[in-house]
Order: sequence, then structure tokens, then C-alpha cells
Amino acid sequence: MTKNTMILGIETSCDETAAAVVENGTMIRSNIVASQIKSHKRFGGVVPEIASRHHVEQITLVCEAALEEAKVTWNEIDAVAVTQGPGLVGALLVGISAAKALAFSKGIPLVAVNHIAGHIYANRLVADMHFPLVALIVSGGHTELVYMPEHGVYHLIGETRDDAAGEAFDKVARVLGLPYPGGPEIDRLSREAENPIEFPRAWLEEGSYDFSFSGLKSAVLNYVHNAEQRGEAINKANVAAGFQESVIEVLVEKTLRAVGEYGAKQLLVAGGVAANLGLREKMTAAAQKHAVELVIPPLKLCTDNAAMIAAAGTINYLKGVRADLSLNANPGLQLT
Ligand code: KG4
Ligand code: ZN
Repeated sequence: MTKNTMILGIETSCDETAAAVVENGTMIRSNIVASQIKSHKRFGGVVPEIASRHHVEQITLVCEAALEEAKVTWNEIDAVAVTQGPGLVGALLVGISAAKALAFSKGIPLVAVNHIAGHIYANRLVADMHFPLVALIVSGGHTELVYMPEHGVYHLIGETRDDAAGEAFDKVARVLGLPYPGGPEIDRLSREAENPIEFPRAWLEEGSYDFSFSGLKSAVLNYVHNAEQRGEAINKANVAAGFQESVIEVLVEKTLRAVGEYGAKQLLVAGGVAANLGLREKMTAAAQKHAVELVIPPLKLCTDNAAMIAAAGTINYLKGVRADLSLNANPGLQLT
């Protein structure tokens, strides 16, 4: 019988300090996330220096907790997988320094992981992956459409040209006076809308799989400011729902077009915005119509975590891809 692969994953690219142990790239043995959301909330967004400082305070505790909860000893860990980028450079460096120190002192390999690949592999923790597949990653920092012919091979077929989808949710929420992070607030408010406002859709040029959300954000801003100037009260729920519908329609339509063009057997959705109920409903209906298998991980695996990094890291590890102690953070790391 072949030995199981046990990977410790570490993730510090943004505002979650996370460590997890994953077995065979599919089974979560532990998944520890120390969220900093409370510290950033009063600033209305993530403050990089504060994020780095919290990571430094939490990283050792979180790694120890991950091993303890998994009930494994260091002898059973085959490698340490860590997020190399994209993300905030100072935040990434904390995780990378910890991963290097652990790999060196325990005499085990170090594996670098792309954060977007991690979001994609969150799906493998809940379902088998069937290739070829298309994955939509929508979070506070990213909006990417990826085609995967096999494990560990990524073709970027579309991305945002300006704001990330989650960033647009957060900015529009701020305009409406809602707390950070705004995505869940907009999602909740949308459910109360009776007459969603009609906002434009950014389809871009014919055939493009790219996205753009800044025009939509400006349209919402103009709508709110014009109403303010006229002294009219706005119906926040109708604005939130109109904005959300515009984002969702473009995401769903382009993603399903990619599924058709690439002959995908499976559609994966990941990232914090995948928690959006409206997006889940519309994507589920569209996937059914196109007869493609849809996987959307539960909320805890949609937002940043280290189990997804360990899962993606397992693929690199088994392919023999190793990092050495010169590994550096790459805030703009590309998937392909
Ligand atoms: O993946 P994530 O936790 O962090 C990044 O890597 O960016 O995503 C966070 C983003 C935030 O912009 C947040 O507003 C958004 O995901 N988000 C949502 C919902 N829940 C979280 N956006 C829309 N609807 C939601 N229910
Ligand atoms: Zn993320």
C-alpha cells in the first residue's frame, strides 16, 4: 500500500492567518483560520501594515494548532506548502518565512503555491475534479476565469480589467453606507428589493472573457449622488439588487459560454464572492440548463483558508515541484 501524502498548508496573502493539514489533497485533517476582519473593519478595508503585524503574532500559534487538531506529528508531514502570491507582499512574507523555517528545521520539502490555484483546489476538498474543467474565481482581490485540461495545468482565459468582483461589492456597499466587508450586506439587502434599479452590463468586446466592474461602480455612484443632489431618498435594497444582478448576469453568462466553448465536464466556482446567494442560484440554474456538473464549496472553503493551499500544494508536491530557501513573495504572481 502506498503511503498517504500529508501536507501542512500556510496562507497569509491578505487578512487571514491560516494553517491546515490535508491528507492526499482531498481530506481536511485540520483547517485553522485566524481572521483579522475586526481590526480592519473600522478602516473600511484591509490595512497592509496591520495585516502583516497580525500575521506575525498569529502564525506560530496557528501552525501549532493545525498539527494538534489534525492529531499528526511532524514525522508524518511530507511537505510544507505556502502561498507565494498574489497578495500583499508584507503579509505573504510572514507565511513564507514561517514555512521556510519549518521546512528547514524539520528537514522536509518546501512547496510554493499560487493563491488562485488554491481557491480552485478548495473544490477538491468537497468533490472529485473532472477534466477538462472551467473554474471561476471571484474574491476581494481576484476575478479570473480559468480552463484546466488536467491537474495543475491552468490556462487563464479571462480576468478583470479593473476592480475585482468582491472589491466592487465592497465599494458599492460603502457608497450605500453599509459596513465592511460589503458583499454579504449587499447580498442580504438584495433579497428585500422589490424594484431593482437597471444598471448597465459590461460585456466588453465580442467574444471576450474579460470582466470590468469599474463602469458599473461609477453608474451606481452617479445614481446615488444624483438622488442626493435632488434631495431624494434612495431605496438601498433596489440599488443593491440592481448592482448585484448586473455583476451576476455577466459572470454567469461568460462562464457558461466558456464551459460550452472548452467542452468542460465540470464547472468550479470559488473565492469569497462564491458565497453570494444570488450568484449561487443563477449559476446553479445555468449549469443545469447546460448539463454541466457544478461545484461550489461551502462558505468556509470559499474564503481564504490554508486547506485549499495544502490541496493545491499536494499536486505540486506529487509532481516533484519544490521551492528552496531562496523563495520570495511575488505579489503579482501569475497563474500561467
Ligand atoms: O476570498 P476572500 O475571502 O478574500 C480574498 O482573497 O479577496 O473574498 C472576500 C470578498 C470580499 O470582497 C467580500 O465582500 C466578498 O468576498 N463576499 C461576498 C459575499 N461574501 C463575501 N460578496 C458578495 N456576496 C457575498 N455573500
Ligand atoms: Zn483569496
